[in-house]
Amino acid sequence: MKIKSIRGVKDILPGEIAKWQWVEGMARDVFSRYGFKEIRVPIFESTSLFARGIGETSDIVEKEMYTFEDRGGEQITLRPEGTASVVRAYIENKMHHPPSLVKVYYMGPMFRYERPQAGRFRQFYQIGVEAMGSDSPLVDAETMGMLIEFFKSMGLNDLQLEINSLGCKECRPQYRETLKNAIRQHLDALCNNCQQRYERNPLRVLDCKVEEDRKIAESLPKMGDSLCDNCQSHFTQVQSYLTTINTPFSINPLLVRGLDYYSRTTFEVTSSGLGSQNALCGGGRYDDLVEEFDGPSTPCFGFALGLERLISVLPAETVESIETDPDLFIVCLGAEADGECYRIAHELRRKGLKVERDYEASSMKSQMRKANNKNCAYVLIVGENELKSGTLQLKNMKDGQQNDVSLNSVTQDILNIIPLKNQASL
Ligand code: HAM
Repeated sequence: MKIKSIRGVKDILPGEIAKWQWVEGMARDVFSRYGFKEIRVPIFESTSLFARGIGETSDIVEKEMYTFEDRGGEQITLRPEGTASVVRAYIENKMHHPPSLVKVYYMGPMFRYERPQAGRFRQFYQIGVEAMGSDSPLVDAETMGMLIEFFKSMGLNDLQLEINSLGCKECRPQYRETLKNAIRQHLDALCNNCQQRYERNPLRVLDCKVEEDRKIAESLPKMGDSLCDNCQSHFTQVQSYLTTINTPFSINPLLVRGLDYYSRTTFEVTSSGLGSQNALCGGGRYDDLVEEFDGPSTPCFGFALGLERLISVLPAETVESIETDPDLFIVCLGAEADGECYRIAHELRRKGLKVERDYEASSMKSQMRKANNKNCAYVLIVGENELKSGTLQLKNMKDGQQNDVSLNSVTQDILNIIPLKNQASL
């Protein structure tokens, strides 16, 4: 019986990995400029962390978690997202001491039992950031601004940033009641899902994807009209900071997000290149979550982006610019040349070049074909004649130009011709 991968998961093969590594490298680079450091948290945690953190009435907790009992009888869940784990780590490792703004980022697989479709998987990868310990609107704007710069650095310009404010502990309870009362007037016309959940989680009715419900949602009262003075002023400042750095955004009063921990600013970045699963990134403020887990009062802001989705919309020019082709192919002709080729390849790799060779003692023609197939920039030909004469031929595969290199100084001669691309030498 052939064993196949589980539905909704996929392999990332060596042919695609360069894009992934490049995007991850860009994230590390850009985020570190804003003071974010990496955190690595486990991919499984106690089920109660996610149930309480993300919210019992969220879709994720109600129907999408991969939960099992381990051999010790403990309820375990494969992480469906990173924020709850980071909050747990923040409290457990007393990262609030001494009090300061803690900025972390993470990348790795998340697991949700969703219906697989284009852009939606059961194991998918996120890159996320969390800024913990400040309620300043500058943190919201700076973190969203960083995200947009990150997207721009990969050539993505056709993106929409939508923002909203969900209010706080002071103003939201009143709004929830107002909303519930308004929804009740339309109950018969709403989808089953909304009819069932509006009592427990009325805000989710606002972002229901069912067409009829969307029309009703537009007529319902909006959080924006019920914000307390502090939340209103916070939201106005976030917008003003975004304008300061010329980051275009629109306000979407129906944006509530699917996780229950949000307060005040929430946002999503969408790309029209993505089809129906068009959310590239989502996030916002979660000012009460640390306290809900018995940590000190710690207002936070963060986001997570879907790596599969991001990679699928990278512009062709960006993908072409991601260089992974080998620098050099050593064509080795005859048994006598074998050891010398091994030595040269070893030396050049130590210096930082990407070197390929043949291991099958094939003909010159076959080795040249392999060099071509691997898209090698240069070919070095080493045969018995070359060893006798002490001069080797280095051929540029793009323009066909040939250079003589001396066997005695082969490593240095080659390095004078083939530029090193930021590789560290060993
Ligand atoms: P989220 O909106 O659930 O937020 O997920 C963030 C991103 O992960 C989405 O915008 C999407 O690109 C990607 N994503 C989600 N589910 C899937 C899936 N099944 N297949 C492929 N990609 C998917 C969070 O996870 C929050 N923890 C974000 C956050 C961090 N908020 C504050 N800090």
